[in-house]
Amino acid sequence: MTKLWGGRFSKPTDKLVEEFTKSIHFDYKLAEYDVLGSIHHIHVLKRQGLLNNAEHKKLKNGLMSILVSIADESFKPNDSFEDIHSYIQYLLEKKTGKVALKLHTCRSRNDQIVFDTKYYCLRNINKTKKLLESFNVSLFDLAIQNGEMQIPGYTHLQRAMPIKLFNYFNAYIEMLTRDIKRLKNAFSNIKLTLGAGALAGTFIQSSKYNQKAKEYLEERGLFIRPSSNALDTVSDRDFVIEILSALAITGMHLSRLSEDMILWASKEFDFIDIDDAFCTGSSLMPQKKNPDVLELVRGYSGRLYGNLVNVLVMMKGLPLSYNRDMQLDKEPLFDSFKIVQDELEVLTKLFKNVKFKKENIAKQLGDETLYATDLADHLVKNKVAFKDAHTIIGKLIRHKLTSKKDIVNMGADELKSFHPLLTPAIVKKIINPEYSVKSKKSVKKRVLR
Ligand code: ARG
Repeated sequence: MTKLWGGRFSKPTDKLVEEFTKSIHFDYKLAEYDVLGSIHHIHVLKRQGLLNNAEHKKLKNGLMSILVSIADESFKPNDSFEDIHSYIQYLLEKKTGKVALKLHTCRSRNDQIVFDTKYYCLRNINKTKKLLESFNVSLFDLAIQNGEMQIPGYTHLQRAMPIKLFNYFNAYIEMLTRDIKRLKNAFSNIKLTLGAGALAGTFIQSSKYNQKAKEYLEERGLFIRPSSNALDTVSDRDFVIEILSALAITGMHLSRLSEDMILWASKEFDFIDIDDAFCTGSSLMPQKKNPDVLELVRGYSGRLYGNLVNVLVMMKGLPLSYNRDMQLDKEPLFDSFKIVQDELEVLTKLFKNVKFKKENIAKQLGDETLYATDLADHLVKNKVAFKDAHTIIGKLIRHKLTSKKDIVNMGADELKSFHPLLTPAIVKKIINPEYSVKSKKSVKKRVLR
């Protein structure tokens, strides 16, 4: 195994130590960013007179050919190396010979790994943001298609008041829009830097960046700056924690939405039908059609929270500056990005294939208790104090439940015994889902898109 170190050691590393300390089996994902960082670095070295033109050209060609192999997927990470930095160094040595030994001048893997991970995060934030946007569109389309439809709204999972289906989905669109904002914020907090060295900076003046290299990288969205504090640069993992936190919150939102859909798809609610292509069956019970996708989305939130707590705890007692513990931020980070991206992809498709069972929903909206607040509001609008109105309608509901009568079928005298303002015509008008949602004026109508 070619290593980036070894001179001071009198013996080869124990195989168990090699196995235990290596990271290439996951940090191979950073290959592209590592090479881009090196392309930037050789421009800096040339500018500083540490590489001549011919050496620079040779290294650049070598690095570019590795970049091409990553793009066309012929690049195969080799598990016998310690990490991705060592493997790319080895490949470059094979391609360019001795000149590659100059690549690591004024550079440390401590600086490289932060750069690579930050670049990976920038890319994946953008990807996740786009997926969140598409998912929001699919929720919006579903809300629009089902236009003015009402559903029973719940608090404490008990029927509360009718709500517009549009507003239900809008609530999730609001949540996911905040998630997008959180990711944008994490993106803007990431400062891509190089030049920190191991912890104390290097003898190169890092402000002397080559203009061409800068342009090349900036075209790819990479605005590399010199590190303003080397100790902080190599030991900062705030950006990982911020992202894991944003992803955990998104996972929580998707989990809550999934929970509602699982309930709505049950026979007990029977509000929706999820397309067969997005459900799974039982090996024993032939009749079963299970919402496993939604259950897994709900379940994965545990892993997303775990990943956040994992990195928070790993960082908590670390002395400045770099410590090898930090190697352990990668797996939770990669895992959380993948979970949320996969969830958004499958949910976007699943929600395009949800059908509302309008008749069943209408039947459930026939539950007169949903309109108790509207009946109380009618009294209040006619000068009855709210607390009195609450008691009067509470008694009417109790009477309805004990007598097993519908309020809309109660006679004039029966209704009047609760309050003279309650007449058969009035209660018929009020016990109506459309009337109920239309009477709510305190929330301003939102225009989306
Ligand atoms: N694999 C390491 C990580 O992920 C890279 C930096 C290693 N630096 C070192 N001095 N061993 O953090």
